[in-house]
Amino acid sequence: MSLTTFSPERAGAQPGRQADSLTKVTVPSLLEKKMLRQPIVAVTAYDYATARLVDEAGLDVLLVGDSLAMVMQGHENTLAITMDEMLLYTRGVRRAVKRALLVADMPFGSYHTGDREALANAIRFVKESGAEAVKLEGGRERKELIQRIVAAEIPVMGHIGLTPQSVHRMGGYKVQGKTMEAIDELRTDALALEEAGCFAIVLEGVPRELARIITDELHIPTIGIGAGPDCDGQILVMHDMMTMTFSPPAKFVRRYADIAGVMRAALDEYRRDVEARTFPADAESYHFSREIRELMAEPVELVE
Ligand code: KIV
Repeated sequence: MSLTTFSPERAGAQPGRQADSLTKVTVPSLLEKKMLRQPIVAVTAYDYATARLVDEAGLDVLLVGDSLAMVMQGHENTLAITMDEMLLYTRGVRRAVKRALLVADMPFGSYHTGDREALANAIRFVKESGAEAVKLEGGRERKELIQRIVAAEIPVMGHIGLTPQSVHRMGGYKVQGKTMEAIDELRTDALALEEAGCFAIVLEGVPRELARIITDELHIPTIGIGAGPDCDGQILVMHDMMTMTFSPPAKFVRRYADIAGVMRAALDEYRRDVEARTFPADAESYHFSREIRELMAEPVELVE
């Protein structure tokens, strides 16, 4: 249990961001950003505290990505995470997010066994976790499914290029779109996703030049990760950008903080303080009241 409260008035919010924080990010407002050529800022988060920091910092899109299977649960890839687990994490994030658009990732297996079950799972994200949109991986082959989900009033974010749920087919996490044939396929996929009704498309692990071509060809925003600076927006995995990972980062990751370093130093200091009996200090302890001390058979000294 934590007795430290998360104040409802959001004391930690940056003052400069407060007016901004009143304006809810929506699917139409993201489309407007593309038209106005304003970059869209997206990031992943998986828990209440982190999601609240994201929201207070004024980012546009918060994705509860299935990358959580790797960075939160320690799996080797994203394939193991289940619908129920995704819903659990998304609910915690939901309680923190007031302004950003909350998108939930449909996990592997949740949209591969038929459109009926896929639609039911998309609906679960909205009903049971409060997600405002879902994301799923794949191109043309998902067109009908996406149309059905969109027809059920659930906004869909597409995801093409390096699609981590296809890790076994791709033979690892490799940059996609490197041959003329692959370039044509990805352009066709992007147009198919737009036609299907996606409101945005994640372009992951593709050459910058291809991301630019696709971005110029689409009316909906592209959100890049490892796709260069010409996309309409960018997304990073929280643990990558904050250095909460245990291997060297991929080329496209910029590390904005060393949270692991800060935590290691703090844990080391805490261990030393406990071992030296300097934590907790008297000021960090509770005491008997005067009445109780007087009622005690043995006199109780106040320890300073
Ligand atoms: O699961 C995830 O975090 C993602 C992003 C990398 C886009 O799909």
